[in-house]
Amino acid sequence: MKPRVLVTREVFDDVLAHLAKYFEVTSNQTDVPFKSEALAQALADKDGALTALTDRVDAALIARCPRLKAVCNIAVGYNNLDLKACSARGIIATNTPGVLDDATADFTWALILATARRLSEAERYLRAGQWSGWKLKQFLSSDVHHATLGILGMGRIGQAVARRARGFDMTVLYHNTRRLSAEIEKSCHVAYVTKDELLARADILSLHMPYSSVTHHIIGAPELTRMKSSAILINAARGGVVDDAALIDALKQGKIAAAGLDVFENEPALNPDFLKLPNVVLTPHIASSSTATRRRMAMTAAESLVAALTTGRAPNWLNPPVAT
Ligand code: DGY
Repeated sequence: MKPRVLVTREVFDDVLAHLAKYFEVTSNQTDVPFKSEALAQALADKDGALTALTDRVDAALIARCPRLKAVCNIAVGYNNLDLKACSARGIIATNTPGVLDDATADFTWALILATARRLSEAERYLRAGQWSGWKLKQFLSSDVHHATLGILGMGRIGQAVARRARGFDMTVLYHNTRRLSAEIEKSCHVAYVTKDELLARADILSLHMPYSSVTHHIIGAPELTRMKSSAILINAARGGVVDDAALIDALKQGKIAAAGLDVFENEPALNPDFLKLPNVVLTPHIASSSTATRRRMAMTAAESLVAALTTGRAPNWLNPPVAT
């Protein structure tokens, strides 16, 4: 009998067809996210799962899934997976690094430009029929070219964002837990600074780190206070790395000028105060959502699931056993 797998959210047909070559597949093509009880029931008799960042895989769930051997997340972020609990049960967990770097960097730039140049605000005004004609001082905004871009979190996506800044003749500063090699700094045209210096000097601060207990509220009231009052904050990383209430406060008080946000604490629920602020650009967690990239993410996860259940090893394995 073929192993049984669950695909927890809607995926592309070719991904299902690929999985069906190896497995008996149950898929949730209606795309209504499983609540935790429904997920536990659906996974109870499965050997593997293709999960999304909306699925919480923790010790309580794992305890109810005795056959589960592999959980392959269709995302580079995996803060929805309890890796310790997976490892304790010998469950292979995987993610999809690399395939979404460029799409996410492109979208970060869309947010940077839209926020600095007040694109959403101006479009809302035009669509509302409020435009009566050209005015010299209409929608005055901030230049992106020759500004200082600060990048907090300089992994693959941060580096891809930095490389794109060259076309705008920007100064690019970064801070990261580990400084990059001189070679990478040179190829990205970036200079390493302390976090405090980054906050103080950035005209545009873009965040590119995973969410964890360490990065929780890495941008909160103290950090926002250190930024320029003209600064723009961009977050296409994860909700929770920014303290949303503190950000709303800072925007209301003019501590910073604007924000471009693709991710939110407790998403899809949004702090309703964001909706009242004209100087924020808000998008629904779509930074990686180009057709080609989302296809690659889903297929990458599917290939990991096939490898995990047929060979006991997998590409993008997050929790391989450590030799003792
Ligand atoms: C990721 O891959 O972590 C993205 O947030 C998915 O959209």
